[in-house]
Amino acid sequence: MKEQIEALRREALDAIAAAGDLKALEETRVRLLGRKGRLTEILRGISQTPPEDRPVLGQAANAVKADITAAIEARRNALEAQAESERARAEWVDLSLPGRRPPRGHMHVINQVYDEILDIFHELGFQVATGPDVETEYYNFDSLNTPPDHPARDSHDTFFVKPGVVLRTHTSPVQMRVMEKTAPPVAVVVPGRVYRVDYDASHSPMFNQVEGLLVDEGVTFADLKGSLMLFIHRFFGRDTRVRFRPHFFPFTEPSAEVDISCTVCKGQGCRVCKHSGWLEILGCGMVHPNVFAYAKYDYEKYTGYAFGMGVDRIAMLRHAISSIGHLFENDLRFLEQF
Ligand code: DAH
Repeated sequence: MKEQIEALRREALDAIAAAGDLKALEETRVRLLGRKGRLTEILRGISQTPPEDRPVLGQAANAVKADITAAIEARRNALEAQAESERARAEWVDLSLPGRRPPRGHMHVINQVYDEILDIFHELGFQVATGPDVETEYYNFDSLNTPPDHPARDSHDTFFVKPGVVLRTHTSPVQMRVMEKTAPPVAVVVPGRVYRVDYDASHSPMFNQVEGLLVDEGVTFADLKGSLMLFIHRFFGRDTRVRFRPHFFPFTEPSAEVDISCTVCKGQGCRVCKHSGWLEILGCGMVHPNVFAYAKYDYEKYTGYAFGMGVDRIAMLRHAISSIGHLFENDLRFLEQF
């Protein structure tokens, strides 16, 4: 019996040391100490021995039980520590690694140019006004002194929505909408999308304009020139040369187109300015009395100037962009450059 108990101790300690993980260790524990375990069997066997031997055997068995229990406990602690350090290694995070930057968007180049233009006029006291993209023929043409039989109407290749309703071909109709609601003096700039049936490297069926309108007593063509020169020198730089060329628009009289010295060749002549040294950037003029009549403004008392410029064209000149299509295709490789 004594030998059995000693043999069990050695066997048990070997088995515990050999348990490779917590599950194996638990199986070993049950095999040794469980209700049908080896030690339980031995304890039962002691009751069959002569009574005078039992105390010694009982003590030996209890000592072995204590040793086995302690060994299991120690082994369990070791296995748990090992499992913990394995998990820590597997889940290790390097807190000193620099973070990954989330992709960051920015304003579209067209909106940047819009903002720059509007900021300059804002400083001059102009307020921003807007109007609808889907516009009536009345606002888009008639009230701007362009009746149905007027030849200028053909030059705006118009998208019709239904009879009497169009996609606005310019931002000028907002002039009328503002004047109908506001008594003079007015000073507004109007950013907006406009639409024409036109599509090539320099024309897009949708493009962007900024309209301007200033009405007060005693406004002259000198005011128009002064404001636009100031704008151009701020936007394109002080050394930009400017020329006003007589032109025709139905809603202004007199009218002019404004050219600036070519931003690419500085007036020497190149492909961009078609070797003229000049680039046309806007149309303008003194508001036609007929337009004031539609607005119910007293054209004996008030005069005003108006202008309209193409934002896409200005953005293309500023950034040497070769095709207007780039502005609308939303290729990030293009947009990220601005
Ligand atoms: N609306 C004209 C166009 O789109 C541009 C223009 C010319 C606007 C003269 C004006 C102006 O306000 O006075 O071609």
